[in-house]
Amino acid sequence: MNKSDAATTPVANISAATRQALLAMPKAELHLHIEGTLEPELALELARRNDVQLPWDSLDDLRSQYSFENLQSFLDLYYQLMAVLRTADDFCDLMLAYLARASADGVRHAEIFFDPQVHLDNGLDFDTVVDGLLEGLRLGGERYGISGGLILSIVRDKPIESAQHVIDLAERRAHDLLGIGLDSAEVGYPPSLFEECFSRARAMGLHCVAHAGEEGPADYVEQALDLLHAERIDHGVHAIDSDEITARLAYDRIALTMCPLSNRRLQVISDLRDLPIRRFLDRGVAATVNSDDPAYFGGYIGANYQALAEIGFSLDELCGFAKNSISYSFADEERKHQLLSEFAEWKQNTAENV
Ligand code: HPA
Ligand code: ZN
Repeated sequence: MNKSDAATTPVANISAATRQALLAMPKAELHLHIEGTLEPELALELARRNDVQLPWDSLDDLRSQYSFENLQSFLDLYYQLMAVLRTADDFCDLMLAYLARASADGVRHAEIFFDPQVHLDNGLDFDTVVDGLLEGLRLGGERYGISGGLILSIVRDKPIESAQHVIDLAERRAHDLLGIGLDSAEVGYPPSLFEECFSRARAMGLHCVAHAGEEGPADYVEQALDLLHAERIDHGVHAIDSDEITARLAYDRIALTMCPLSNRRLQVISDLRDLPIRRFLDRGVAATVNSDDPAYFGGYIGANYQALAEIGFSLDELCGFAKNSISYSFADEERKHQLLSEFAEWKQNTAENV
């Protein structure tokens, strides 16, 4: 990848009408960690509510922690703050807070990761977490009309027995889950370690996705396809380093769930212009735009679309990402059709205003 020294990207002025149109554009969010939507205000409120001691007692103090050198420095804070989540109501509140923001950003369907191993290590039951998140999704569905589901994500740098244990627990709740994913510290934890876990999840009827090529090499993307049968690749940035793997993603119609603001904040790229999203497009790879951990990375999904507009992506290109997000979601065909119709209607009403 071509890394530049610039820490920030000079931005083109995009009009207020374009900003607004990008927020209103119907879209799906396919790469979102629910624990990564824990805003510092809610973290402190839950710490008080649940009598959990955190090392930071003021909002400013906590906010001063939000500068990251790499994935691990973010994960350290992200896992530490998860200790404030204790009850099903906490998970429900967290989900509803996310869905309210997502709705304001035009999200109509969301496929949402959660990290059960961390909550189990914190002494919670699997069912407490799943029940709270599902109740939030149900209420959010009623309130905002957002559809979606949960993707159980394996925390790859925890002991393999802990991954196997959550697969055991998932067996009983498979009908409540949409898929299985793989996240956390990537380098040194290749997809090959999780072949059996994914094979069991696939046998339960779960969709398979995996983070690969965020900090890890293109080879991890290939392993995720060959060994985990991943149907989408989360991030996939480093796939661009291999012509062969990039061509395979295009040929096999495997979408990438890319996260521009996350990649910049975690210094996967030093400048947004270095994100290889256009290079993927040019080679026929379907990309989508997502927010990853928006409470930590400076913006929800709308801000990610706006950031791409600021570095010169056209409305047509941004529309392509939104249509991909619907087409490559795991929604059923009827829902996809409905969302694509909403998208077409939005496009017709919007085209002359921006
Ligand atoms: N990468 C890997 N694991 C994660 C991330 C991420 O961006 N966010 C939460 N867990
Ligand atoms: Zn992620």
